[in-house]
Amino acid sequence: MSASTKTLSALPIFLRGKVVRGYGRGGRELNCPTANLDETAVNSFPSDAPTGVYIGFAKVNNDKVYPMAMSVGYNVHFGNDNKTVEIHILHEFENDFYDEIITAIAIKYLRPMKQFNSKEELIEAIEEDKKAARNLFNDTELSKWTQHSYFSKL
Ligand SMILES: Cc1cc2nc3c(=O)[nH]c(=O)nc-3n(C[C@H](O)[C@H](O)[C@H](O)COP(=O)(O)O)c2cc1C
Repeated sequence: MSASTKTLSALPIFLRGKVVRGYGRGGRELNCPTANLDETAVNSFPSDAPTGVYIGFAKVNNDKVYPMAMSVGYNVHFGNDNKTVEIHILHEFENDFYDEIITAIAIKYLRPMKQFNSKEELIEAIEEDKKAARNLFNDTELSKWTQHSYFSKL
């Protein structure tokens, strides 16, 4: 089974949390701005679900639902000690959204977190993750998750 079709018993994973400040490397450096979820949301992440990269859908407050790529873990590339859940939404936002509420459903597990030899390799891997997230919209079955009732209550 290829990584992109891997299923986990914990999926789908429903997450809601407040956006907090991360280590501040995210956006500019990696062409991938991410919203870090608060500690309560991180702790609500199922303990039987592995760290790594997930894709699915997400929205900020009551905005539209967009595809997202999410990293869960310790950002081994940078040697971080704290577990983080970071969501990259595939949409150009005008402003940062610290303190806003993100609602997300992770529907696929893509890969484990990796330690790359260079920042360029990490960027390349993230670009592939983003492509996989964008493709969710083209899958008739998977795109139905955008209509899930979890997105209609806040
Ligand atoms: C889709 C995606 C995939 C990622 N993959 C990895 C990875 O394989 N290894 C890693 O160390 N960090 C990975 N990251 C995390 C980035 O390193 C992280 O977003 C960056 O360090 C910014 O963190 P900050 O906002 O806390 O500064 C990934 C992030 C995203 C959004």
